[in-house]
Amino acid sequence: MPKGAILAAEVLTAAFLAIQLVPIERTNPPVETEVPASPEARAVLRRACYDCHSNEVVWPWYAQVAPVSWLIARDVREGREEVNYSTWNRLDEDERREALEESWEEIVDGDMPPWLYRPLHPAAKLTDEDRRILDQWSRLPPRSAADRAAERASSLDPFAR
Ligand code: HEC
Repeated sequence: MPKGAILAAEVLTAAFLAIQLVPIERTNPPVETEVPASPEARAVLRRACYDCHSNEVVWPWYAQVAPVSWLIARDVREGREEVNYSTWNRLDEDERREALEESWEEIVDGDMPPWLYRPLHPAAKLTDEDRRILDQWSRLPPRSAADRAAERASSLDPFAR
């Protein structure tokens, strides 16, 4: 190999190793209150959405390797900022309705899960049946005052409505 090529390879390797040292956050803060959902809707959400919109992210091995790890961490950070199904308790009634409507819009438009995520996570592909289930889920009726009181009483009940 010519000297120049060896040097270039060394520089690239050093750069690759150096970027591994950049600290990034791969956390899963506590689940506070899960978004209300039937067991079947929850299964679909877990499969297709929880890797970016929950505090139960399954970080794949390549999430350990920069620069891919940066992209994944950014998706999770931005995804959680938009809607986090693990901190549903932090939303008021209007925000919840809005989050459900927007979730359905993203699904019906085919924008979520994001296109880059799909080939790596075949299980996240939504079938027509999955869409039917999530359509129903996104139309959950607003909670009654009594339900809300019960929810406050057990803020960790995953099926609290
Ligand atoms: C690979 C990570 C990832 C997965 C999986 C994922 N999302 Fe997202 N989602 C994002 C990111 C990043 C954003 C913010 C940027 C954007 O809108 O593209 C977002 C934005 C959103 C928004 C806000 C859109 C807006 O602009 O108002 C909703 C709602 C949403 N996602 C719902 C879902 C649903 C429902 C699923 C599952 C069917 C899902 N997402 C799966 C990463 C993800």
